[in-house]
Amino acid sequence: MGKIHAAITGVAGYVPDEIITNFDLEKLVDTNDEWIESRTGIKQRRILRDPKKAMSDMGVEAVKQLLEKTNTKPEEVEMIVVATITGDYVFPDTANQIAHKIGATNAFGFDINAACSGFIYSLIVGSKFVETGTYKKVIVVGGDKMSSILNYEDRATCILFGDGAGAVMLEPSQENGIQDSILRGDGAGCEYLYMKAGGSLNPPTAETVANKEHFVTQDGRIVFKAAIKGMSESINDLLDRNNLTKDDIDWLIPHQANKRIISAVGDSVGFPDEKVLINIENYGNTTAGTIPLALSDFESKFKKGDKIVLTAFGGGFTWGSVLIHWAY
Ligand code: COA
Repeated sequence: MGKIHAAITGVAGYVPDEIITNFDLEKLVDTNDEWIESRTGIKQRRILRDPKKAMSDMGVEAVKQLLEKTNTKPEEVEMIVVATITGDYVFPDTANQIAHKIGATNAFGFDINAACSGFIYSLIVGSKFVETGTYKKVIVVGGDKMSSILNYEDRATCILFGDGAGAVMLEPSQENGIQDSILRGDGAGCEYLYMKAGGSLNPPTAETVANKEHFVTQDGRIVFKAAIKGMSESINDLLDRNNLTKDDIDWLIPHQANKRIISAVGDSVGFPDEKVLINIENYGNTTAGTIPLALSDFESKFKKGDKIVLTAFGGGFTWGSVLIHWAY
């Protein structure tokens, strides 16, 4: 018997209804539509305004669609891995909340905190349980309620992010599925993209709240350069290791952080624009949500056997790329 691959057998995405355009942000901070669109490619993003709703609620919406599309009963799901940095609570994990809310009574799960690379990290973790024959139905969710950690007085960050989540089903396949991955990290990047307080180093106090330390803090220029380097290098290494060239790849699905970053990665690797899938204009950067949302938005383009590369870069720093042979 050949190697068992973990194949994506279904995808689903969910974004909240409320749209925040660049023009809406002009009313909150000193910015303008032209600046945001030309520097980032973003036109609008979605916001989960309801204070009673959290990351798990977006995950639940995506997973419910996924179960319907893949004709799966909640009790059949064995494992749920959730990529997020905005889980409902610091603990417990959001995966268990999602399992509980959808009635996945036989599933266990946990969250993975790898910021914008969270989905690809989680996909690879989930895939190992399928490849080893341990489980046959693993759901990987990626998403973030970024509006819960954004300072809407900081024009350098609040324009970039939005809320949303996506989910994929992983099942065993002899033929197609996840082929290889390169995952990397460098903790030296921490201070360039992080939330200063709320963890065990700087627990929440009246002072951390007053100093606005519970929001995303970023040095955009450093992240910009590191993102292009990390994604481009991991794609090239992945292709080399699999004796592939850029011409063998049908689709590149990059983490959607900034259209200029995506174009620079596409150019550096030599992919033509039509192979690079972009939907950042609609959602902004949904952190762990961008790749599953893109898989969901562009699903109709994919054919069985298509070679797809996913690539991401995020806080940590974390980054990497995944090679998939599409299974349906
Ligand atoms: N509207 C208008 N002007 C703004 C602005 C905004 N929203 N944000 C910053 N500016 C100003 C700056 O204050 C600066 O003004 P100055 O020249 O008078 O000092 C000027 O625009 C240029 O700022 P700079 O930070 O150099 O812009 P940039 O071209 O680097 O673009 C980012 C800023 C954030 C869009 C860009 O650095 C970026 O996308 N970085 C990566 C961020 C990211 O993707 N993070 C997630 C990774 S997973």
